[in-house]
Amino acid sequence: MIRVGIVGCSGYTAIEAIRWLLRHPQAGIVAATSRQADGSCISQMHPELTERLSLEVEDLSPEQIAERCDIAFCCLPHAASAPIVAKILQAGKKVVDLSADYRLSSADLYEQWYGGTHPDPERLGTTPYGLPELFEEQISDATLVANPGCYPTSAILPLAPLLKAELIEAEPIVVDSKSGVSGAGRTPKMVNLYSEANESFIAYGVGTHRHQPEIIDILHRSTGAQVDLVFTPHLVPMDRGILSTIYVKVKGEQSANDLQTCLKDFYKTQPFVRIVDHLPATRNVTRTNFCDIAVRQHGGWMVLLSAIDNLTKGASGAAVQCMNVMYGFDQTLGLVDQ
Ligand SMILES: NC(=O)c1ccc[n+]([C@@H]2O[C@H](COP(=O)([O-])OP(=O)(O)OC[C@H]3O[C@@H](n4cnc5c(N)ncnc54)[C@H](OP(=O)(O)O)[C@@H]3O)[C@@H](O)[C@H]2O)c1
Repeated sequence: MIRVGIVGCSGYTAIEAIRWLLRHPQAGIVAATSRQADGSCISQMHPELTERLSLEVEDLSPEQIAERCDIAFCCLPHAASAPIVAKILQAGKKVVDLSADYRLSSADLYEQWYGGTHPDPERLGTTPYGLPELFEEQISDATLVANPGCYPTSAILPLAPLLKAELIEAEPIVVDSKSGVSGAGRTPKMVNLYSEANESFIAYGVGTHRHQPEIIDILHRSTGAQVDLVFTPHLVPMDRGILSTIYVKVKGEQSANDLQTCLKDFYKTQPFVRIVDHLPATRNVTRTNFCDIAVRQHGGWMVLLSAIDNLTKGASGAAVQCMNVMYGFDQTLGLVDQ
């Protein structure tokens, strides 16, 4: 049995990871950390865990986490995560980091978009990006995996095979994405208050969102293409889910059918990517690790549509999928039929 530690257990990605890990036949949760630890059981923090997980929340040091666990899921904000991750790795244990700290290829890029000096720059560029659909071999050998951002997952999965096959142009690409409110985490922020978000629909981070360089960087790493794209995220008044509508230009005379065939072929052995004929909807993937993708033609543009659950395929489901690959299990272990 693999001993798993959840670092930052009070948040949304943490409870999502716990939900999946509780039904994993080869993993057990042995530690859960929070700065809010007061000696109480984790079910005080997450009442849905009542009679499902009896574990005290503790404010453990990285060294203490490493002593107890084989692998840690670090569910912390960027910048807070890397120093803790580095110490757990130093103690010889594995980590799936759900923050953005290890996703980008260079410290320069990180500093440009996140500010500050990266505390562990040597690992940037060598840490595998946690999409097994594109980086399975690297993940299988890794002690640290950089779990992807939620919007990037919804954009990279439809775009990468088509760029790799040179069926679409690397520019222009327009990624128009909408997310439920849980995408911003459980830590309170005014824009996420019910009376601010409910019955409203707003764009944010226009031209400045940190997932834009992540999408460009990872598409380059996985396909060699240097894309130029416009990425605009929106907040939708729903709990969870991301729908991305992506506008691309084809090379030559490709039809929507050609693009769909390429995607079907690329993902034919991948259990969590479904190339669908219907239009993807967040409700079809809610609380699952699936990414649904469809293709449509509109005049001179091709429209790629993808739907994921931001907390599952966009975060903690992907983290469990990566853990499965790191330990040589089937990718789907513990992740289907919930
Ligand atoms: N939400 C999503 O859909 C999503 C998707 C993909 C990736 N992510 C990424 O996953 C990470 C966690 O996101 P989340 O949505 O779970 O956030 P969250 O709900 O706000 O939870 C964040 C957790 O981090 C802890 N924390 C906050 N500041 C900290 C600090 N300075 N030092 C140590 N611990 C700190 C908090 O714990 P205590 O206050 O209890 O100590 C809390 O448990 C983030 O990096 C986020 O960008 C989120």
